Amino acid sequence: MKKLLAATLILLLACSACFAEGDAVTSATLKIDQLPAVTSENSAILVVYFSPDDTVRAAAYTIAAELNADLFEIVPEELYTADDLNYMNSKSRSMTEMMDKDARPAISALPEDLGAYDTVFLCYPIWGGQAPKIILSFLENVDLSGKTLVPFATSNSSGIGSSGTALHACTDGSVNWLDGKGVKKNVAAEDIVSWVQELSLK
Ligand SMILES: Cc1cc2nc3c(=O)[nH]c(=O)nc-3n(C[C@H](O)[C@H](O)[C@H](O)COP(=O)(O)O)c2cc1C
Repeated sequence: MKKLLAATLILLLACSACFAEGDAVTSATLKIDQLPAVTSENSAILVVYFSPDDTVRAAAYTIAAELNADLFEIVPEELYTADDLNYMNSKSRSMTEMMDKDARPAISALPEDLGAYDTVFLCYPIWGGQAPKIILSFLENVDLSGKTLVPFATSNSSGIGSSGTALHACTDGSVNWLDGKGVKKNVAAEDIVSWVQELSLK
């Protein structure tokens, strides 16, 4: 019980510290109303994203537009409300999930066939320093064997931290995990494009 309380406190402190900084950001560069056009044709690259508040969505579109990649959105069976996303409430849905190692929120639909893809970007917001548990739900329910996986995260200030490597355990040894990238939510789209170009995936 003491351990649980301590973990909750650490999670809340981590979140409140980063939000103090994040809240000051009023001119985020990644905006949902400025999504770049994505044209993909027989792409071998898929950009998967989960974005309850749209920041990751804009980043995912930026990545997909640069690579002419396909997009797939992880849509929760039960959408997250503003109350669900309240990190200051240790009993909110998001915080409860992050405290529960077995939490696997249901996804409304999974991609039918990933056979055509050799590289999959996995884009998510940082929650309490980690990937939201729904990302684990995704990884545990699709066949990614033999593919290259690229984690990508947006956050207020934490960066990608250990969130990418923590996901490795969800896949088998045949997956080639790249280091991935974490950006602050007010990142310039050009910075994401530069990183994508450095990966030399085309
Ligand atoms: C439940 C919750 C926990 C969060 N925890 C952190 C955190 O630990 N560190 C951080 O820098 N940002 C944290 N954030 C901020 C998000 O990572 C950031 O706003 C992200 O860009 C949101 O992406 P979205 O707009 O696609 O949902 C948290 C946000 C939520 C809702």
